[in-house]
Amino acid sequence: MKFNRKDLIELETLTREEIELILDTAIPMKDVFTRTVKKTPPLRGKTVVNLFYEPSTRTRISFELAAKRLSADTINIAAKASSIEKGESLIDTGRTVQALGADIIIMRHPHSGAPHLLSKHVKCSIINAGDGTHEHPTQGLLDMYTIREKKGRIKGLKVGIVGDILHSRVARSNIWGLTKLGAEVCVIAPATLIPRDIEKLGVSVYHRPEEIIGELDVINILRIQKERQKELLFPSLEEYSFVFGVDSTKLAGAKKDLLIMHPGPMNRGIEISSDVADSPNSVVDQQVTNGVAVRMAVLYLLSGGKDENIT
Ligand code: NCD
Repeated sequence: MKFNRKDLIELETLTREEIELILDTAIPMKDVFTRTVKKTPPLRGKTVVNLFYEPSTRTRISFELAAKRLSADTINIAAKASSIEKGESLIDTGRTVQALGADIIIMRHPHSGAPHLLSKHVKCSIINAGDGTHEHPTQGLLDMYTIREKKGRIKGLKVGIVGDILHSRVARSNIWGLTKLGAEVCVIAPATLIPRDIEKLGVSVYHRPEEIIGELDVINILRIQKERQKELLFPSLEEYSFVFGVDSTKLAGAKKDLLIMHPGPMNRGIEISSDVADSPNSVVDQQVTNGVAVRMAVLYLLSGGKDENIT
């Protein structure tokens, strides 16, 4: 099967089959890194540009590594050190990058919808690496890949997402993807951190972790996005941590094989305690490794690769 799209901007508009194609393509991509030569040729001669308007460590490095493992040439542009500082518009920057020969632009931007806008003005493929509070599709995909790898399936699992749902693009991509693949998703947060009408996306809402933790197969713990909150939406970080922070006391009644996930960066002692972050049930490091495989799959498919031709 081929992925007949120019861009990857969101999971909302992908079909279940397209999501499964990406996840299936990521399996042989992961095999590439267990080889002594961690490189395969499909993107030889292609240029992949990372255009980042927001700070990022793991996502940028993960995309760069993914592109390099597929033999592409890679260039990194950080907004702070470029003409963007001199007031160049997003569209002009995108056109310049295209004129320099980019085939794929990977972009992160503080405004929701920015990758969509740029996509209309350039011919090269756009991959959204996180836009404002909208979506972070490759994070959603790597979370689903990790769940499928560890649990053998997604359909029928109960997945809890706890934390700042209101400002989280990771939550939104997870919700779209997981519900399309048949998981039961619930969000757990104070009422002020839950978007209005979230139930319309097919998720259930809880305001206390204890009400649901015992039923979960997976818990995905999110950071409080202080940089996106105009005012603090709960009394204090200490109180948030006391009520919503996931620690071993809250997990006392959890299933023995509960999968513990976090997209990073973790704020230990706030949304997650150190013992939970480092517990045998935690797959935080595997998420990072799987991120490279999933991003290789996305780059490969957007460049016209077919799932049956991966070596
Ligand atoms: C997330 C992001 O930037 O949206 N992080 C990431 O991609 N590794 C989540 C976060 O910043 O909390």
